[in-house]
Amino acid sequence: MTQPTLIDGKAIAATVRDEIGRRASELLASTGKRPGLAVVLVGEDPASEVYVRSKDRTANELGFHSVKHTLPASTGESHLLELIGTLNDDPDIHGILVQLPLPSHIDESKVLRLIKPEKDVDGFHPVNVGLLTSGEKDHALIPCTPHGSLILLKRTLGSDLSGLNAVVVGRSNIVGKPMASLLLQESCTVTVAHSRTKDLPDVIRAADIVVAAVGRPEMIRGDWIKRGATVIDVGINRLPAPEKGEGKTRLVGDVAFRECQSHVGAITPVPGGVGPMTIVMLMANTLTAARRQLG
Ligand code: GUN
Repeated sequence: MTQPTLIDGKAIAATVRDEIGRRASELLASTGKRPGLAVVLVGEDPASEVYVRSKDRTANELGFHSVKHTLPASTGESHLLELIGTLNDDPDIHGILVQLPLPSHIDESKVLRLIKPEKDVDGFHPVNVGLLTSGEKDHALIPCTPHGSLILLKRTLGSDLSGLNAVVVGRSNIVGKPMASLLLQESCTVTVAHSRTKDLPDVIRAADIVVAAVGRPEMIRGDWIKRGATVIDVGINRLPAPEKGEGKTRLVGDVAFRECQSHVGAITPVPGGVGPMTIVMLMANTLTAARRQLG
């Protein structure tokens, strides 16, 4: 039994991060400015708090100007919109990220639409979505998780993905839809599967590339995946792990990792696969945004 290639997101993220650090130093030398990132968190969702802390820490480690705004869950929509207006006008801030999900009394799409497209480092603004889907991705800011997933695929399979059958499982605006656009631009034959897809196992069995982004622990079983296929598991799900002790948990992806070991070609682990790439791509977008605004 040959072991699959384990796609080491942590190591690949570290090399991308080094490159970003070098480019940020060059920017500082040529303009006297650091890339500036503002991260906004509304409410006390523990998972969001972890992500936001990690984004702020990484930005600081890279020598970026990083500002974190933590607002209570009771924050009114107009207050949040006002803050975004201020950040839009701040010349030291080149990237704005509003952590999702927002509390239900706030209109998420209204908030995302107010962020200036050139500062939209999540790539969620309709202008950036349009640029990506119409094939002008060099002018867009691309959503971080799918962009990081594409880099992992290219590091694993080489830069030419053309003609490969790619199945993206999940149709979210954050991952599934932009991932499908990116793979289509790489000339893959792309299928977007979702909760209403008929015969999901058979759809996935046709894939050379599987990108799993459904948010359901180990939903995709090993025998749904073709021999030699490459699997990118975007899921990060926390399950109880009583074997580790009272109240302990473990992280699992959307794919049953152990069932894949015998036959897949390459697979991302959870944790240590896509996760580290997402944060690094946010830093890459912030640097890109800064260079465009300062250039
Ligand atoms: N919540 C989960 N993923 C993301 C992301 O990529 N960006 C933002 N802003 N919020 C998220």
